[in-house]
Amino acid sequence: MSSMFKPVEFEQPSEFEFSKENLKTAKDIIAKYPEGKQQSAVMPLLDLAQRQHNNWIPKAAMDFIADMLKIPAMKVYEVATFYTMYNKQPVGKNLVQICRTTPCWLRGSDEVTRACRKKLGIDVGETTKDGKFTLVEVECLGACVNAPMVQINDDYYEDLDAESMSAILDELAKGKKPKVGSRKSRHTSEPEGSTGV
Ligand code: FES
Repeated sequence: MSSMFKPVEFEQPSEFEFSKENLKTAKDIIAKYPEGKQQSAVMPLLDLAQRQHNNWIPKAAMDFIADMLKIPAMKVYEVATFYTMYNKQPVGKNLVQICRTTPCWLRGSDEVTRACRKKLGIDVGETTKDGKFTLVEVECLGACVNAPMVQINDDYYEDLDAESMSAILDELAKGKKPKVGSRKSRHTSEPEGSTGV
């Protein structure tokens, strides 16, 4: 279990299998690897399982993948527990990962965290009761040039402050898709005020 999350009690489903569509995707992924190297498909298969299973990977899914790849289950557990991108416990529909490493911290990540805690009514490591949001702090996500930033599921939101962070959470709570990237309307990571030429 990842230490990003506060421990909670939850049930591990006893069974898992890929949906018909994902089973086909999984077989296509495995077929990309040379004969004898199929175990290298473990990472994309874990990702597929997570996307199918409400953003987290139960142990049954790891066992299913081990069977599919014909490798010991421990090999799958090792990968799943090493990388924080794999959630080993239930998380909210929106996993809000706030970068707190030095560039983001210097540019106001504490303010962003405070805004999230206030808006969601939860602390870092917790999930809202309605299951819509989980809030965690993480280390550098590689977008320091647009600090401070957060990752929510697959998307990056950058150049944040308390106001823009709250607005993003409001939109997500309503089921909308907020605009990704810089919230200062600059193009990617160009200097502010750049004409882009
Ligand atoms: S320090 Fe936040 S993205 Fe690098």
